Parts: sequence; C-alpha cells; structure tokens
Amino acid sequence: MKIILLGPPGSGKGTYAQMLEPKFKRISTGDLLRHINKNTKIGKEISDILSEGRLVPDDIVIKLIEKEINKENIVFDGFPRTLEQAKLLDKITTIDKVVLLKVSDDIIIKRLAGRMQCLKCGRVYHIKNNPPKKKGICDNCFSILHRREDENAIKKRLKIYNKNIKQIYDYYNKKEILYEIDAERTIKEIFKDLEKLLNEK
Ligand code: AP5
Ligand code: MG
Repeated sequence: MKIILLGPPGSGKGTYAQMLEPKFKRISTGDLLRHINKNTKIGKEISDILSEGRLVPDDIVIKLIEKEINKENIVFDGFPRTLEQAKLLDKITTIDKVVLLKVSDDIIIKRLAGRMQCLKCGRVYHIKNNPPKKKGICDNCFSILHRREDENAIKKRLKIYNKNIKQIYDYYNKKEILYEIDAERTIKEIFKDLEKLLNEK
C-alpha cells in the first residue's frame, strides 16, 4: 500500500509517518533534502532554499524520490507539494490513500516552538508532547537532537503550503482517495484514527 500524508508544516506528517515504520518505508523529501552535502554547489543552493522556506524545484525532488520507491508499503511525508509533483508521482507509482492532517496555524506555531529533530535519522520529538527518553538524545540512533534551521521561516512555509494545497486536494479528491483527519487532538488519538483508516478497504 502506498499512502501520502498531506498537511501544513508542523501538522505531524513526520510524527505519524515514523509511527508507521517499520511496516511502511517512510519517504520524507524534507529529510532527503537536508541530507544533501552542503559542500557542493547544488547542495548549497538547496540548503539556502530550505532555510528560506521556499520549495526546491520539482525536477530535483522527483529525481530524489524515484530511486526510493523500492518497497511495497510506502508512506510519503512532505511529498507531493505541488500539483506537478502529484502528476509526476502518478507516472511512477499508484497511490492508494491520501490523508490530510488538519491543524490551525496557532497550534502549528506552538508545536514547532518545542520541536527537536534528529538530523541523522530524521526522528521527530517535542520537548513536552513527545519527549525523547533521554533529554536531547535520539531514542533511535542516539545522536544529539537539534532545532531545524527553517523554524524561523514558518510564516513563509505556511504561505506556500496554503497557496498549493487546494490544487493537490482537488486532484486527489477527484480520484476519491482523499481522507481528512482532525489533527488537533493527542498524538495517540490521531494515530488510532489513521491506523483505522488505513485498515479499511
Ligand atoms: P519538511 O521537512 O517536509 O517540512 P514541513 O512540511 O515544513 O513539515 P515539518 O517537517 O516542519 O512538520 P511535520 O508535518 O512533519 O510535523 P512534525 O511531525 O515534525 O520540508 C522542509 C523543507 O524542505 C520545505 O520547506 C522545502 O524547502 C523542502 N521540501 C520538502 N519537500 C519538498 C517537496 N516535495 N518539494 C519541494 N521542496 C520540498 O510535528 C511538529 C511538532 O509537533 C513535533 O515536535 C511533534 O512532536 C509535535 N506534534 C505532532 N503531533 C502532535 C499532536 N497531535 N499534539 C501535540 N504535538 C504534536
Ligand atoms: Mg516533517
């Protein structure tokens, strides 16, 4: 099964995608882009785009994910971000379900203020809502947790998300594979609904 988690920055795409592992392979375009070597010309350009909260060009992102689609069960986290990406994805694989996580801007800003992320394995934490077992250390790979460089660009990221989401929403809604989840509840409640939705035929 191939699923997509859609939602604004800070809505919890990474959090729920990592909870679906290892049953699903998680493909996070954000994590893939953050791992590109900054010491190359293209790497430096991508890193600047990320810190400013802009979108990386579609052709670069598609090339990155193409080689990652090598498992039966996949959850896409943060992809597609444009209608063009959604159309290109349909050329390389078939998507079963698309889940939109609905969260208001106020809540997003509070959540991102407490987020810590492992830049090595991509695991996401929150200092209060979802803390690691040992303060500042990743439960999964024991690396030091960081705040992301693009946290200050949240207004820009939200603006770009709001500009693009309608077209992506309409695209999947027309195919009758779009589902919505109220993502302003607890992580446990949201994940329970998500699992139920994925288990339905
Ligand atoms: P990306 O890494 O995808 O970032 P994003 O979409 O801005 O989303 P975030 O990762 O910030 O949030 P999230 O929804 O994963 O929430 P999280 O689980 O962390 O992309 C970064 C950049 O890369 C983009 O801006 C762009 O430049 C580039 N990029 C990426 N993909 C691209 C593409 N396809 N095309 C072009 N460019 C691309 O949760 C947030 C916090 O809330 C955490 O602390 C978490 O613990 C907490 N939390 C989660 N759920 C709950 C809850 N229910 N209650 C309380 N706290 C919660
Ligand atoms: Mg994320």
